[in-house]
This record gives sequence, C-alpha cells and structure tokens, in this order.
Amino acid sequence: MEWNKNGLLPLEWFRQMRTESPVEAIEGNGGWNVYKYVDVKAVFTNYEVFSSQGSSSSDDPIESSILRQDPPKHRQLRKLVSHAFTPRIIESLAPKIQEITTSLLDEAEKKGKKMDIVADLASPLPITVIAEMLGVSMEDRERFKAWSDALVGNNGDAYYQCQREMSEYFSAIAEDRRRHPQDDLITKLVEARIDNEHLTDLEIIGFCILLLVAGNETTTNLISSAVLAFDSLPEVRAEVLGDSTLLPGAIEEVFRYFSPVQLMFRSVKQDTVLRGQELKQGQFVYIWMASANHDEDVFEQPDVFNIHRNPNPHLGLGSGIHYCMGSQLARMESRIALQTLLDRYPEYRRDRSVELARMDSTMMFALKELPVFLK
Ligand code: HEM
Repeated sequence: MEWNKNGLLPLEWFRQMRTESPVEAIEGNGGWNVYKYVDVKAVFTNYEVFSSQGSSSSDDPIESSILRQDPPKHRQLRKLVSHAFTPRIIESLAPKIQEITTSLLDEAEKKGKKMDIVADLASPLPITVIAEMLGVSMEDRERFKAWSDALVGNNGDAYYQCQREMSEYFSAIAEDRRRHPQDDLITKLVEARIDNEHLTDLEIIGFCILLLVAGNETTTNLISSAVLAFDSLPEVRAEVLGDSTLLPGAIEEVFRYFSPVQLMFRSVKQDTVLRGQELKQGQFVYIWMASANHDEDVFEQPDVFNIHRNPNPHLGLGSGIHYCMGSQLARMESRIALQTLLDRYPEYRRDRSVELARMDSTMMFALKELPVFLK
C-alpha cells in the first residue's frame, strides 16, 4: 500500500517489536515501550499501577488538566466536564458542523479544481467546532491552528512559547466570563465547583488547551487519513458510495489502521512486572496504540484495511477511565465531513505528484498535506 512506503506507517517495525521485544527497555532513558494489545490495554486500565498524574510543581497547564489526573481528582473533573459532552449537546452541533463543512468546501471550490484536504477541510473544521464550543471568536482560528501544531510537534521551544501565549489568552477569557457569563463552555468551567471550590485558573486553562490539542490535530488526522484510504482503495470507496451506512464502520477502521494518536504514556506508581520485565516506580511507560491496533493476536489480517470488522475493538481512543471524552464528537465531525466530500466529489483523486509525508511528530500520525483533484 502506498501509505506503507516511505515509513509513513511503520507496520513492519511494530510487528518486529511485538514478536521480538514486546516490552522494551528504552536505552539510556529508564523507560519502556509496550507494543502488544493486551499489555497496552492492561496499562490503560490499571490506573492504580500506571499513573497519569502530572507534576504538581509544574506550571504547564496540561499537567493540571483532566488528562494528567488520577482518581479521585480525575473522577471529579470528569463528572464536571462530562456535562459539556452529553450525547444531546454533541448531536445539537450537527447542523453547525454541516454548515462549516459546506462553507469550507465552497471556499475551496472557488479556488479551483484542486484542494488540500488537510489545510482546506480537515484542519479548519475541528478548530472551528472547538472555538464554537469554547465560545472563542472566529478571528482567532489561525492562532489556534499555529498553537495546536506547536503543542503536538517535536520542537520544545515552540511548545513552551505557545503554552505561555495560550495561558495568557485563556486567562483573559476566563476573567471576562467571570464578569460577563455567557452560554459557553468556559463560563461553565469558571462557574463549576468541586467540593465547593472553584477550579483554579491553571485547571481551566489546562482544560482549554487540552481540548485544543486533544480535539484538533486528532480529528484532522482522522479525516485526512480516511480521505487517503478511500483514494488508495477504490473498492472501499465504491462500497461507501453505494451504501452510506458503511461509513461509521469505515471510520472505526481508520481509527484502528492509522491510529491518529500513535502512543500515550503513563508512569509506574509501584514496582510491577509486565511480561516478565521488572518495571520500577517512577519509570515512564510508552504504550503504542498504533502497534496494538495491528496486533495479529486480536485482529485478523491486521494490515488489511477492512471496513467490515465487527467487532473492531481498537484502542485508538484509549481505554479505561481516560477514554476519549470527545469520541462521539470526533466520529460525528468525520462522518459529516467525509459524507459531504463524497457526495460532492465522488471521484476526487489524490495528486500523486506530491509525495505523502508525515509531520514531525512521534505522538500523532499527521499528513503534512493531501492535495486532491476534485473531479
Ligand atoms: C480522532 C479524534 C480523537 C482521537 C484519536 C482521540 C484520542 C484520545 C485518546 C487516546 C485519549 C486517552 C488519553 C489517555 O488515556 O491518556 C483521549 C482523551 C481525551 N480526549 Fe480525545 N481524541 C480525539 C478527539 C477528541 C475530541 C474532538 C475531543 C474534544 C473536543 C477530545 C477530548 C478528549 C479529552 C478531554 C480527553 C481526556 C479524558 C480524560 O482524561 O478523562 N478528543 N483522546
């Protein structure tokens, strides 16, 4: 498959690691890589041994966010923010998502017969949806994009610079909502109380930044990977075009096959043994969902893109108490974007003169660009 060339998806390497070194000590780092499905799932679900807890001394807002908390704090935060992600609220966003998608495609079409799926559709769509949920003005979309790129990239300086900028930006908005409440998520966060105490500014900012990171690049990558898959596999495209009820299954297969989030990490809370390896308290464990999702012990013919897998128990959205809070939103956004694209341009074709290339990120599977001819 063309996407397996150029090391785009290192499936062969994952296979080798699963066979030869499924729990691998990282040289000079004191951490571990974990590649097999059962082990990745065990680390995800056993939060008493494998902790998500961020550093309490750090002023990095993500360290104080829900993603980096263990119970009981995690349970409290999750209960609080789950009010913003109820099926009813997500469903109510559908018309808005459809409207944004249509207008992005209209804009792209005006520019000519060619568009870049990443820059013109898959990236602006989730950013606009999150901006909408957070109640942040549309003019800031470009800044959002630059920030979320820097947050998932491998450049440490850019990461800290953008953390600072975002902290200032969201503190100002939080302050504004305290004085002038509105019907948006940031107002809900500033008004919320846990054990009668308000969230700290750092916690609120951490959540906003997390949404930006967790919800943007990930959904962008899911949509772009799906567009690539349909282009590379004409029989899959024909099936989905003939029967749109197959689209949700196709999206689940994109989660599995491409794993927009390639890995997560935990720290060892108490000494433990995993597949015969002795893991010591304080060590980091990198859990490779991208490898687990191709584990031959769980998925038949794992390297075949099969939209009919049922069940498809991929770990692309995590597992256990931190399971993705935006899963239904991501599914709905990608379903609307892909359906609209396929309805309007059923014969779109990737511009093969442009080589496929990944962004400089270990954590995400992200295409730099995906130019397509519309008709
Ligand atoms: C393709 C799309 C997405 C993927 C692949 C994805 C993946 C993930 C994964 C793997 C986790 C678990 C992290 C862990 O266990 O440490 C997670 C958590 C989370 N995701 Fe997503 N996500 C996506 C979209 C979204 C969206 C659209 C939102 C919100 C707008 C969102 C919000 C969150 C939040 C708040 C958490 C933290 C939950 C917790 O710690 O309890 N995600 N996501």
